[in-house]
Amino acid sequence: METAPPSLPGNPRRGPFALRATLVSARADGSFLFEKDGILEVDASGAIASVGPASAYRGAATVSDVRPMWLLPGMIDLHGHLPQFPMTGMNAYGLEVMPWIVDVMSPMERRFDGERSREKSLEYLSLFAASGTTTPVLYGSVDEGATDAAFDTAARHGFRMLLGQCLMDRYRYDGAIPDSEVTERRLRQSEALCLKWNGHDNGRLRYVFTPRFAPSCSREMMRESAALAKKHGAYWQTHLSETPGEMVTIRETFPECSNYLDVYDQAGGLGPRSIFAHCVFLSAGELERMRETGCIVAHCPSNVLNTAGVMDLGRYVDLGLKVGLGSDVGGCADISMFSAISLGWVCQSVRQRLRPEDSVVLSLQRWLELATLSGARALGLDGQIGSLEVGKEADMFLADVPSLRITDGFVDKWVDQLLTLLVFRARPGMVRATWVRGSAVPGPGIFEAPERRFRPHAGGTVTA
Ligand code: GUN
Ligand code: ZN
Repeated sequence: METAPPSLPGNPRRGPFALRATLVSARADGSFLFEKDGILEVDASGAIASVGPASAYRGAATVSDVRPMWLLPGMIDLHGHLPQFPMTGMNAYGLEVMPWIVDVMSPMERRFDGERSREKSLEYLSLFAASGTTTPVLYGSVDEGATDAAFDTAARHGFRMLLGQCLMDRYRYDGAIPDSEVTERRLRQSEALCLKWNGHDNGRLRYVFTPRFAPSCSREMMRESAALAKKHGAYWQTHLSETPGEMVTIRETFPECSNYLDVYDQAGGLGPRSIFAHCVFLSAGELERMRETGCIVAHCPSNVLNTAGVMDLGRYVDLGLKVGLGSDVGGCADISMFSAISLGWVCQSVRQRLRPEDSVVLSLQRWLELATLSGARALGLDGQIGSLEVGKEADMFLADVPSLRITDGFVDKWVDQLLTLLVFRARPGMVRATWVRGSAVPGPGIFEAPERRFRPHAGGTVTA
């Protein structure tokens, strides 16, 4: 039998500290770091001061030896919905997207007001951290108080997050506001939230103007939100080409537009800070327009669970599009990016069997890169986050990978084989500690509370 996983001696909660572990990360030069016995040092500002083999370490920080655990860069989740957390794992099962939103998600989101957000945001953000996700990109509910409270929670507990108030002036679930006022009122609220939170704590929090998608927004809502995002240097996010039924709605509602992307193009919504979730059914012309304008694709493998399909990931990557991964919480089986990776890998593998002529992304090193460095690059944040490299902010997590084995007696020989263990047997609870900018955040340990209630460890660090 293997020994119990070690606790974290020294319990490093903020820099300076150093960890001795197996270091695993994509790197900016295209290589992949797998240092079985490495040391990573974090300085007092929370930046990575050194990374390398333990035998070469010359730093002065106190070293916590946490072998045989693995240290990885924090996952970057390019797409999810904060108010939909309770729906995670309860997939649409054949419902088209519009009835799903109206009948299932809207009642859930309507409850997510300021009070509920104050109650639940710490739990939800902690669940991300407990899954190894350090940068979620999120939609709030339409309630400005809920979005403000979520930002406030993230600010106080040290989480990194990109978030926006969900904008809808059609198929709304906030009936109290008159139709004649809703567009202007929501835009003003979003601008105020952006002014308050965008760039908070040296960019740890960022605002994203968030028109839900074309069917639930007026042309004015899309156009004005895009203009505000540009004016304030903020991000802009929406959904694009998720299901076949949605495409029919778009053709009927926007007859003046040549395709789905053109609806957002005419609103001025395309650009390097524009994040489009799903992108399953796009024409060659739309892909070229996305590439030339630098738009970001948030690929959500959970599409296959929700009447959508399987995005042609290999083609998008070959075309040079900016692609990262999204969980699409709560339209997914699990919030963990390891769940997104394993589902995506299986879908792309089947795709290759059926269409051997297509190029398909399959290496697990490449999938881990998609969930980390590629996401950071897509957001234009790869100077700060996305990999375990010197000078970057120490956004990272410690995973007890050896405990994922069913039994011991296995020889650690091939990196790719060990990565399959991490990706396909990832379990809640394997994440033992998570840091953002070198400071421990709440979350790890959340799955281990005996009564299965939310009970974050004090300070979010590992206990024995
Ligand atoms: N399209 C517009 N809103 C949503 C949503 O909440 N979930 C999904 N999967 N697609 C959407
Ligand atoms: Zn979504």
